[in-house]
Amino acid sequence: MNKRKGARQYTPENLKIAVIGVGHVGLPTALCLAELGWEVIGADQDEDKIRQMKAGKSPFYEPGLQTLLTQHLASGRFSVTSDVASAIDAATVLFICVGTPQGENGEADLSQIEVIARLIAQHLNGYKLIVEKSTVPAVTSLWIKRTILRFAMAQRRLEGGGLNQSTAPAEIDELPPAPDFDVASNPEFLQEGKAVDNFFCPDRIVVGVESARGQEILEAIYRPLKRPIVVTGLTTAELIKHAANAFLSMKISYINMVADICEAVGADVNLVASGLGLDPRIGPDFLSAGIGYGGYCFPKDLRAFAYLAEKHGVRGSLLREVERINLERVDRFLDKLYKALWIVQEKTIGVWGLSFKPNTDDIREAPSLRIVEALVKDGARLRLYDPQAMQRMRQVFPEQQGQITYCSSPYQACEGAHAVLLLTEWEEFQSLDLHRVASLMELPILLDGRNALDPEKAVRAGLEYISIGRNNATPIPEVYQAQHSPAVQELGVNAPAWR
Ligand code: UDX
Repeated sequence: MNKRKGARQYTPENLKIAVIGVGHVGLPTALCLAELGWEVIGADQDEDKIRQMKAGKSPFYEPGLQTLLTQHLASGRFSVTSDVASAIDAATVLFICVGTPQGENGEADLSQIEVIARLIAQHLNGYKLIVEKSTVPAVTSLWIKRTILRFAMAQRRLEGGGLNQSTAPAEIDELPPAPDFDVASNPEFLQEGKAVDNFFCPDRIVVGVESARGQEILEAIYRPLKRPIVVTGLTTAELIKHAANAFLSMKISYINMVADICEAVGADVNLVASGLGLDPRIGPDFLSAGIGYGGYCFPKDLRAFAYLAEKHGVRGSLLREVERINLERVDRFLDKLYKALWIVQEKTIGVWGLSFKPNTDDIREAPSLRIVEALVKDGARLRLYDPQAMQRMRQVFPEQQGQITYCSSPYQACEGAHAVLLLTEWEEFQSLDLHRVASLMELPILLDGRNALDPEKAVRAGLEYISIGRNNATPIPEVYQAQHSPAVQELGVNAPAWR
């Protein structure tokens, strides 16, 4: 879109920003914009969240966020309110960062966005740029635009006393002027656990706009980052986000499928991945095999993208297969445990890592949820440890005498254990004293669901080490032989009916 001659300079002095929805996307966005020098109001209907932040506490764990919150509450560049309407009134640029959870059939539930659009329609007290930042299916921004226009015009007609039952058609021509606003799409690519870094060092900034003014404002906001800005139309920008998340999910399911082949033919998936990743057309990232992707984004965005494709008559089978492979990870991992322990009932299982990935306390769609659920159902005694996510996990699986115990360290989690499961590759697990681990366990069996540890180091410590897409390693050849004889393989029947 061409730059307008004499376009206005947008600066923190003349441009106030509101971020509506201060969750895992909104809060890092708001605080990082404040760090860039902009004046930002964080607005959210969740009174509890706002209360916590007014008290200077971040409502969730994200590296670097607490520091920015303390800093910018003090600098005055960041303020919070649960009165969303007042934030809309006070700001010119409105970033919509509310949740777009998954609807019944996988379609994205956009009701929270619609509510905000209607609220904005009632508060168009001057030019507004409405920036959609939540992850949404293509054409959502057009729905936002239409909703604001409809409700704003209806309101103005009412205010103008224009529209009442008795109004004759002719008088309608004196419709009030259309509200002055633009919609833009600015998808985020923030990864939990790295959100602040991702904001300040983005690979690219995608800006979907419908006007030169919208483009100028967003370029002014992000100019301090000095990163590539990709300017497109609204729908294209929305699609970039969905396609990106679906592609990354596909890459993970691909390497997980390769891991299954490695197990069947005796190859090493980590080495296969590094061999693949050296090809710049493939790239080394997102080729870590394991128990599958989780979190608030990949699972729901992939389903929403498949739904969008099928809704428009495009085959979504590729995307559906990505999800199927992902869901199968947990079953295959539990299969390894049953083949190692035969019966898990009354066995003590230590669990290292509950969050869906390191450096976050988020357990949404974490593989650990299905693994813990299956083991509880089969009567195992669980000793759970995670550096950050135990509080959230307790809300799903409360402490239960003799069945579920939350531990204060990874060592405590493996006391008397018949097996330990590594489910999240937190850095602290890399530097554990594995000799001490083996000495604390009843049976020194370690199942590494993230290929996070070095097999040789584990074996030297006396552990039987089972991982993903790699040969198992054991200090006791006899056990290894027995376990791998075709006869035992056939036995499979010992696995209880959870499959
Ligand atoms: C993702 C996208 O990366 C981010 O750009 C987008 O804005 C939001 O969704 P996030 O959900 O925070 O971010 O997690 P990410 O780091 O992408 O990991 C997603 C899942 O994939 C995690 O469960 C992780 O354990 C898993 N994963 C990741 C793998 O299993 N293998 C890999 O190689 C990489």
